[in-house]
Amino acid sequence: MLSFRDTQAIKEIYGFGASFQKHEMYKLQNGEGHMNILNVIDRDAHNRKRRILSHAFSTKNLENWESKITEKVEMLVDQFDRYALRASNKDNTSKTRQITAVFVDAKVWFNYFTVDAIADIALSEKLGLTKSGSDLVKVGDSGEDTRAYRFIEDMHEAGRMKTKVIGTLEWFDFTQGLYTFLSARARERLESGRKFGQIISHLAGRRMQREGDGEGLDDFFSCLLKDKAGKNRVIEVDELRAEANILLDAGSETTAIALTHLLYYLIKTPACYAKLHEEVSAAISGDKIAPYSKVKNLPYLKACIEESLRLSPPLPRGLERITPPEGAKIMGEFIPGNVGVSVPAYVAHRDPRTFPNPEAFMPERWLNNGNIAKMREAFIPFSAGGRACIGRNITMIEQQILMATLVNRFEFALPSLDWKLENEEAFNLWPVELPVRIYQRDVGI
Ligand code: HEM
Repeated sequence: MLSFRDTQAIKEIYGFGASFQKHEMYKLQNGEGHMNILNVIDRDAHNRKRRILSHAFSTKNLENWESKITEKVEMLVDQFDRYALRASNKDNTSKTRQITAVFVDAKVWFNYFTVDAIADIALSEKLGLTKSGSDLVKVGDSGEDTRAYRFIEDMHEAGRMKTKVIGTLEWFDFTQGLYTFLSARARERLESGRKFGQIISHLAGRRMQREGDGEGLDDFFSCLLKDKAGKNRVIEVDELRAEANILLDAGSETTAIALTHLLYYLIKTPACYAKLHEEVSAAISGDKIAPYSKVKNLPYLKACIEESLRLSPPLPRGLERITPPEGAKIMGEFIPGNVGVSVPAYVAHRDPRTFPNPEAFMPERWLNNGNIAKMREAFIPFSAGGRACIGRNITMIEQQILMATLVNRFEFALPSLDWKLENEEAFNLWPVELPVRIYQRDVGI
């Protein structure tokens, strides 16, 4: 596997018109089931899926679903209110000291929030994880058959299992078999993957049932079932399940990771937090939850989100592509056919030629910068070209609304000034935890 970091390699490997396909590794990631839009390798099959889904992901559609997001933001704010102290009590009087010992793991709450939001956007499903403060989801019909599985935990465990053995490629089945034979933990992880699959099947099944009942729901699934003119599509149930799976997985995990890093960087750089607060409070004063129309064009908010994605891209590793059988040139050098190649976002985002002082969180670099076109070419948290993320508009809407709301209403503190966030690297860059103390400002709403 060859790894590059240059902008030219990004264009040549991932750009529109590039002849590189996704690597066979994607098939291993997918397992036995129907291939989904992210894992499918065949170009024509992908084009068909992308055409169907791009209507669902249009900004106009997404803005119509704003209430599906703001409802969950309000749930999260209500939970944070429960744990918050008044910002004016930030001094360490003996009365407050005991209560301020309460730390809230913001990462967990962001995960509940993003799962709730995408379940509603994709399937009109009100899971209510943010309200209940738990990731348990009931599976099965009512009565004795009902079981409850852990949405986030099971999804993570399944991801951990695959990450451990995916790189062994043609040895994958053998290593996975050996690993599960030798390790009880591996068997549990494999079982978690099955449980997550059952959650998805249950939710997709329920959504189809509601379609049959004529509820007339408005969500991603309706775009999969019917075309723009309202005509039924011919689409297999297994394919619907596969797309539901990737939408709920890719649509929740990545945004929760991004929100966690963003809040962390903002707390770590109080000057940025203060500047962002100045911008959002002027834009949304009087609103408990930030309306999208008031925050979508805030330059500093967008710069903070992008700077955090630059430093901690939720998919940091090289997304594997394969050279065409006849070989191809990358950066002027001939690479033979069928060789794995990639540009890891983590590395591209730290090239000091494009991002001077690369380890520093500096949202300002995205504003009034003559170098911006070059920076954008090297900025690949969503990858690039025809296989780039289809959900980037959704994540931007979610992050803009939630972060503007939180920064306007709260201040946060980490356990200590030198506390550092740690990540676990699987396919995604998972923050281990983000323990914060929450202080509520006197916003009067
Ligand atoms: C900060 C948030 C997000 C990041 C950093 C991110 C990143 C990415 C990246 C790097 C890819 C390319 C994967 C590859 O080539 O293997 C991708 C694809 C994809 N993402 Fe996202 N994503 C985010 C949010 C979302 C959301 C909210 C959704 C909504 C459901 C979503 C759905 C998808 C889908 C369906 C694909 C496959 C696209 C295709 O192959 O045509 N993503 N994402």
